[in-house]
Amino acid sequence: MATQLNLEGKRVIVTGAAGGLGRAFAEAFAGAGARVLAADIDEAGAAETATRIGSACYAAPLDVTDSSSCAALASVAHDAMGGVDVLVNNAAYFGGLTRAPFMEIEEADWDRAMNVNAKGVWQVTRAIAPMMQQAGAGSIINIASATVFSGSPQWMHYVASKGAVIAMTRVMAKELGGDGIRANVIAPGFTLTEASFGHMEDARNYGVDRAALKRNAEAGDIVGGVLYLASDLSGFMTGQTLVIDGGKQFI
Ligand SMILES: NC(=O)c1ccc[n+]([C@@H]2O[C@H](COP(=O)([O-])OP(=O)(O)OC[C@H]3O[C@@H](n4cnc5c(N)ncnc54)[C@H](O)[C@@H]3O)[C@@H](O)[C@H]2O)c1
Repeated sequence: MATQLNLEGKRVIVTGAAGGLGRAFAEAFAGAGARVLAADIDEAGAAETATRIGSACYAAPLDVTDSSSCAALASVAHDAMGGVDVLVNNAAYFGGLTRAPFMEIEEADWDRAMNVNAKGVWQVTRAIAPMMQQAGAGSIINIASATVFSGSPQWMHYVASKGAVIAMTRVMAKELGGDGIRANVIAPGFTLTEASFGHMEDARNYGVDRAALKRNAEAGDIVGGVLYLASDLSGFMTGQTLVIDGGKQFI
């Protein structure tokens, strides 16, 4: 029975780790003694994350929409760390996403949201999971969004893509559970990152009246859930969605 976080020496991939939540996750894993591969389409940002963390962190370029780029990530992970224990699918089309009523969403924008946020999770996971299967262990953590439960207006393409992530995670859990691999979701509520400040004029106060805890999350508020799902403390938990939103949904 695990009673400690114990992530010492774990080999972790965080996608979308050039900034925001992804960088916070990478820093937290390194702080807990793990080795981290920070991957992002923003190569300079991923490299900066690695530089900030130091020798426990490697950087890799990654386009989650490109299957050959996902295969290359698996090779880098194998060469740099000898395998992968934890995969955090955090990369998304979120910063820069065009919000619009669903009647007005551009088809190209819809396709991009689904391609990066849903198909990207499938592509990265199918590239990395074989290493976990070989080891007979692993934890996959997919970052969705509490907007799936709130049905946030003007986000239908994003909500649809993140709803798919929750559904896909259940399939992953069922198909990979026999190999000792768990798959779970973190669904953050609105969280104060550079990207979310870009979406809202008064981001700090956006929707806080609906939150039991009367504030929006900082990246650090989401980190604990990710570390928990990565560790053996959650060893009998799979296919689940952990909503971290200060009590905006479900209460
Ligand atoms: N900030 C919030 O309010 C909030 C709330 C709920 C969920 N989320 C989710 O949390 C995650 C991180 O959000 P964030 O606020 O840090 O936003 P962000 O936009 O800074 O993070 C997304 C990262 O993904 C990268 N990325 C985009 N397209 C990519 C691609 N094709 N291949 C590889 N990398 C790609 C970006 O370069 C970026 O670094 C996302 O999955 C987002 O949907 C955020």
